Amino acid sequence: MASCTCLTFLTLQMLISLVLSSGRPNILLIVSDDLRPAMGSYGFSGVMTPNLDQLASESVVFRNAFAQQAVCAPSRTSFLTSRRPDATRLYDFNSYWRVHAGNYTTLPQYFKEQGYHTMSVGKVFHPGIASNHSDDFPYSWSVPPYHPASLAYEKRKVCRGKDGKLHANLLCAVNVSEMPLKTLPDMESTAEAIRLLQSMREAQEPFFLAVGYHKPHIPFRIPQEFLKLYPLENMTLAPDPEVPKGLPPVAYNPWTDIRKREDVQALNVSFPYGPIPPDFQLRIRQHYFAAVSYVDSLVGMLLSTLDDLGLARNTVVLFTSDHGWSLGEHGEWAKYSNFDVATRVPLLIHVPWVMSRAGRTVGRSFPFWDVFRFPHKRFAKGWAVRSVVELVDLFPTLAELAGLKVPPPCPHASFAVQLCTEGSSLVPSLRAPEHRIDTEAIAYSQYPRPSDEPRDDSDLPSLPDIRIMGYSVRSWDYRYTLWVTFDPTHFQANLSDIHAGELYLLWEDPGQDHNVYDSSEHSVPYRKLSSVLPWRDVLKQYLLCFRKGLKPEGML
Ligand SMILES: *[C@@H]1O[C@H](CO)[C@@H](O)[C@H](O)[C@H]1NC(C)=O
Ligand SMILES: *[C@@H]1O[C@H](CO)[C@@H](O)[C@H](O)[C@H]1NC(C)=O
Ligand SMILES: *[C@@H]1O[C@H](CO)[C@@H](O)[C@H](O)[C@H]1NC(C)=O
Ligand SMILES: *[C@@H]1O[C@H](CO)[C@@H](O)[C@H](O)[C@H]1NC(C)=O
Ligand SMILES: *[C@@H]1O[C@H](CO)[C@@H](O)[C@H](O)[C@H]1NC(C)=O
Ligand SMILES: *[C@@H]1O[C@H](CO)[C@@H](O)[C@H](O)[C@H]1NC(C)=O
Repeated sequence: MASCTCLTFLTLQMLISLVLSSGRPNILLIVSDDLRPAMGSYGFSGVMTPNLDQLASESVVFRNAFAQQAVCAPSRTSFLTSRRPDATRLYDFNSYWRVHAGNYTTLPQYFKEQGYHTMSVGKVFHPGIASNHSDDFPYSWSVPPYHPASLAYEKRKVCRGKDGKLHANLLCAVNVSEMPLKTLPDMESTAEAIRLLQSMREAQEPFFLAVGYHKPHIPFRIPQEFLKLYPLENMTLAPDPEVPKGLPPVAYNPWTDIRKREDVQALNVSFPYGPIPPDFQLRIRQHYFAAVSYVDSLVGMLLSTLDDLGLARNTVVLFTSDHGWSLGEHGEWAKYSNFDVATRVPLLIHVPWVMSRAGRTVGRSFPFWDVFRFPHKRFAKGWAVRSVVELVDLFPTLAELAGLKVPPPCPHASFAVQLCTEGSSLVPSLRAPEHRIDTEAIAYSQYPRPSDEPRDDSDLPSLPDIRIMGYSVRSWDYRYTLWVTFDPTHFQANLSDIHAGELYLLWEDPGQDHNVYDSSEHSVPYRKLSSVLPWRDVLKQYLLCFRKGLKPEGML
């Protein structure tokens, strides 16, 4: 085994230099919206994702990757700048980091400045103020970003309800040829991305193409045939569909965006805890999974084109999502929380010269798989990394893979520093064998709230209304969250002013249903620790205390 590892290591080094001497690799960054790792390759065998599973089989699969804040704009701004929300100062949708926080260099901007042709298709940056109504063009992109025209109809009354009339529903499986423009946004984006790949075939400079899919974000406006993959009678509820007794109200997200859709309004679900009637829960899960299979098909078309054009050999493909989505776990839906279901994301990194070491890349790498013909197609497992990693790691990772200088680590106060990273390159993990989990690794996430009790804006409070910040650390064995007072004027948290805490022992409670924070044996050590340190250091120290005091013999 040891000699095998060594050989892999050498081969990788040699191949990196080989590739670099023969020109820089292209980058294809694919970002799905609100996608938790509900994919066959992550062990969700009920979800049909042959094309993503094929990519996974040719990739390093990060099984424990986490977003820094489980909502679109803060997460995207964070991973595209490699800064955490406390540095971008974006916790809502309402500011542009360059004027509000610091003039940070973005991931695509860095590649553009190093001679790459950078292109954006669909939802990459969050639209609106968060990217100055321009997806940060021209800083980040060589050409104006592309947005699908049919997106204009996304929230309109285009979903046929049981009454035969058109509604703005949550569940919106449609006949695409009856849609305005006879298409859907992600189909348009795929066509545009394919067009751009074709245009880059003969290009002299390497490209960085970012493709942002809108699904499975709500509404579930998807081609109706994908529902057939998921008969309702085969659907099951979340394993833990009740709001847990020990859940502090501040931690709960009341899924307000779901409630606003017409079909959900008609259910007269009580605020804030619901529940949604079980038969409707099953239909939400059905539609979500169908939306995932729909995205899978489009990614399959994109990757098979990359392959057909002969570009796959020299293109690093990275597939991820901005954050996850609760599917009824803890009685919650959507994102907007610190739970794993909201913060954990798929992360697949395909590096052609790494995969070829295993003799995997022979001939075509990415033939298209029609999910209707091959719903249960199985692929060899990819190379799994179980260590906890973060989306802020993407920037330094892609830089290193492209042979660019890795941005230096950010100093403690980094508002004046244009180029630095709060993550670290995952390239060492790309060559670490599966059994070497890094038990020290920690992923940091956070979520703001306006109040202790859930209210209308708890899911997405505007900056001036934020009163509490939930700081959360996730190691391989714990999730630990402190909800503390936050002053939005000075962006200051008071770590001694604790509103609530959550502690989950993941080796016996992976679903995070049993909060043991308040049981006395767990609350003794951490009160004594200093709170003048930055929150990440404080929470990390707490974690180390838990490890000493709590862990049953022999766990580590
Ligand atoms: C921000 O950075 C960009 C390029 O990195 C530069 O063109 C621009 O002038 C800077 N803006 C400010 C206000 O410093
Ligand atoms: C934001 O966009 C506006 C309008 O296009 C432009 O005038 C302004 O310079 C942009 N802000 C920055 C920081 O580039
Ligand atoms: C979809 O709509 C088109 C145009 O109205 C119609 O011809 C077709 O039969 C419909 N398909 C299905 C499966 O309902
Ligand atoms: C539904 O479940 C049944 C029984 O487990 C299984 O045989 C069938 O293949 C499932 N249908 C689909 C479309 O997955
Ligand atoms: C909705 O629920 C509330 C309380 O649960 C009840 O008073 C009201 O009559 C219900 N409305 C409808 C339209 O069912
Ligand atoms: C932080 O909270 C503690 C406990 O409520 C309080 O005593 C202290 O004054 C607060 N510090 C600041 C700077 O507000």
